[in-house]
Amino acid sequence: MKAFKRNKPLSNRKGIILAGGLGKRLRPLTFSISKQLMPVYDKPMIYYPLSTLMLSGIKEILIITVKEDQNAFKRLLGDGQKWGMKFNYAVQDRPEGIPQAILIGKEFIGNSDIAIALGDNLFYGNDLISLLSSANSRKVGSTIFAYLVNDPERYGVVQFSNSRKVISIEEKPKKPLSKYAITGLYFYDNSVVERAQKLKFSDRKELEITALNNMYLEDELLNVEIMGRGFAWLDTGTFDSLHEAGSFIRTLENRQGLKVGCPEEIAWRLGWINDQDLKNLADPLTKSGYGKYLLKLLEGQKSLDGIS
Ligand code: TTP
Repeated sequence: MKAFKRNKPLSNRKGIILAGGLGKRLRPLTFSISKQLMPVYDKPMIYYPLSTLMLSGIKEILIITVKEDQNAFKRLLGDGQKWGMKFNYAVQDRPEGIPQAILIGKEFIGNSDIAIALGDNLFYGNDLISLLSSANSRKVGSTIFAYLVNDPERYGVVQFSNSRKVISIEEKPKKPLSKYAITGLYFYDNSVVERAQKLKFSDRKELEITALNNMYLEDELLNVEIMGRGFAWLDTGTFDSLHEAGSFIRTLENRQGLKVGCPEEIAWRLGWINDQDLKNLADPLTKSGYGKYLLKLLEGQKSLDGIS
């Protein structure tokens, strides 16, 4: 049984995956291969943020990479049709900040609302689908997510009042006012295009996502949802975090017999592709076991319980 089946996207929100960057913390691995194509256990890293956007109900996605890597992403993902989706591609010449994605994607965005997912961020959790769906259904303003971490100084940090009202967001503060980091998933209404155009380069020569979020905060249009301890938020930018993310996914998948971040499965469960499409996708993948998993779905052996 395919529970939660939806035949159409929940909104006309479009997605952007930011998969550029230099991956300096993973050198020499990243000298010739994009970080976001590295394996996280049994899938290329980009499958995970892609799955996050799909679970939000987003079908049309712009994939931003550095120029040299674009063909490799196209080889992997194509135009999205095989998963009932639509993929567009664009280039970011230099990693000059997350909001640059909005300027690069201005035409793609058009009149739509958007969600931006960083290409090296991985989310897992029982309530993920409802958290994402509610962010997607919010028509005005922005929704971002805060997660308790041990090393907040590496991130944008949000300070809450006792009544959970957002007081401030600071980028990589030396003395963080809380341990709540902003994750790499951002939902914005269409006013983001206008706002991003007003941003100035910071001292470190980047357009800062925190400055953009602060614009929404000043206008009282920023929703910060806390992702509680039942969620896993992993970024995969260092040797250890990449290895740990792979181990985490391997442990979960082997224990449950369900895949995490499997776009073919999500597309099928959402009704974006049919049984025959899934079978066609599975056929060339059977030797690795990935395809056998997809075929087992067709035998009706899986419920949706593990989809997030
Ligand atoms: P980072 O981890 O901050 O940067 P990076 O991937 O270049 O890695 P390193 O620090 O090791 O050099 O980026 C987080 C994610 O966002 C990652 O998926 C790359 C992406 N990104 C861009 O594509 N363009 C940008 O301008 C920035 C700031 C990030």
